[in-house]
Amino acid sequence: MKDVVKNIRGQMPLLNNRSTIYLDNAATSQKPMCVLDAVMKYYEQNNANPLRGLYDLSVEATEDYDKARKTVADFINAPKKEDIVFTRNATESLNLVAYSYGMNFLRNDDEIVVSIMEHHSNLLPWQQVSRQTGAKLVFFECDEKGYLDPEVLKKLCNEHTKMVCITHISNLFGRVNDIRTFAKIAHYNGAVFVCDGAQSVPHIPVDVQDLDVDFLAFSGHKMYGPMGIGALYGRTELLEKMPPFLYGGEMIEYVTRCGATYAEVPHKFEAGTVNAGGAIGMAEGIRFMQRFGFETIERIEEELTVYAFEKMRAIPHVEILGSDDPREHHGILTFVLDGVHPHDVATIFDAHGIAVRAGHHCVQPLHKHLKRMSTTRASMAFYNTKEEIDAFVECLAGIRKEMGFAD
Ligand code: ALA
Repeated sequence: MKDVVKNIRGQMPLLNNRSTIYLDNAATSQKPMCVLDAVMKYYEQNNANPLRGLYDLSVEATEDYDKARKTVADFINAPKKEDIVFTRNATESLNLVAYSYGMNFLRNDDEIVVSIMEHHSNLLPWQQVSRQTGAKLVFFECDEKGYLDPEVLKKLCNEHTKMVCITHISNLFGRVNDIRTFAKIAHYNGAVFVCDGAQSVPHIPVDVQDLDVDFLAFSGHKMYGPMGIGALYGRTELLEKMPPFLYGGEMIEYVTRCGATYAEVPHKFEAGTVNAGGAIGMAEGIRFMQRFGFETIERIEEELTVYAFEKMRAIPHVEILGSDDPREHHGILTFVLDGVHPHDVATIFDAHGIAVRAGHHCVQPLHKHLKRMSTTRASMAFYNTKEEIDAFVECLAGIRKEMGFAD
């Protein structure tokens, strides 16, 4: 494992340029040289506005953009590349579904089921749909260990349920939710199933056909790609019947003074100049992961998680949220340190050169459900090392003393 990690780290400029121990990978991953090179090469050699020009350069830019779409589609086993809409990030993908599908196909009396552990980006858009259509929000609660029980979902769903929106991996617990079963329950009740894949797509193999989800949202920047690019997978027949989300250039077929007809999916949803450089970078991030393979990625991340979990569990006054089984955390360890505010915890980590996230992590209702104001989160990627975990654990073990506690 050491050689593989050395090889991965060798490809990550930021980790070599700075001494920071980076444990905030659930917020964004660092970028390998191949991604930076691919984006640079696009702007140095191929840049033109895709989908518009009839000249060589624009045609080449269009082809590169299209190839990136195919790479993303194949990565999640989408039936065809046209099922992928490029967006800015998972948040925009989820807003697209809410505004284009939710606002237009939901009514008063309908119900939208959301889990209590949804990131705000898979909750606030549905709150808006609820406000504007009259559809009711129904919460699917987890137990105190972060487990979402399919039997509970079965009881919540009925003939009024029109949407079920659940994250694949919680950004607080790191636990993989049983999406295949949840999608089955949603479909049995005639509802559309929306999955937030922001935390799963970079860490475990995700197959939209196997999971049978109707929509999957994810971000490029959490999977070694650039910021400002993300994707939405949508089932063809749903994307086809949905109206556009944004209006303007290149999403049309024909425009008159007072009306327009729209382009085919996915272009109907990609108004304005697209982020071709970002899409190319996202595709290169995928190739970076594919060069190592999920077997390696999962093995390294699990080994690191188990190692960190066991050491953290041995520190007095530390409570790790979520499952007691470290293998159910997928690189995400969220914790509280008794008597010390998470912002103080994160500030002390920072003083030791260690980057972690503190606060509500964009899951405030979940914190309330768990009766916590805020927490601290360390999140790993497969380029992290056991030496970094040792430094993190050593720092954690000393924080209470640093804050003036006697023990
Ligand atoms: N959604 C990201 C996180 O959980 C930003 O940190």
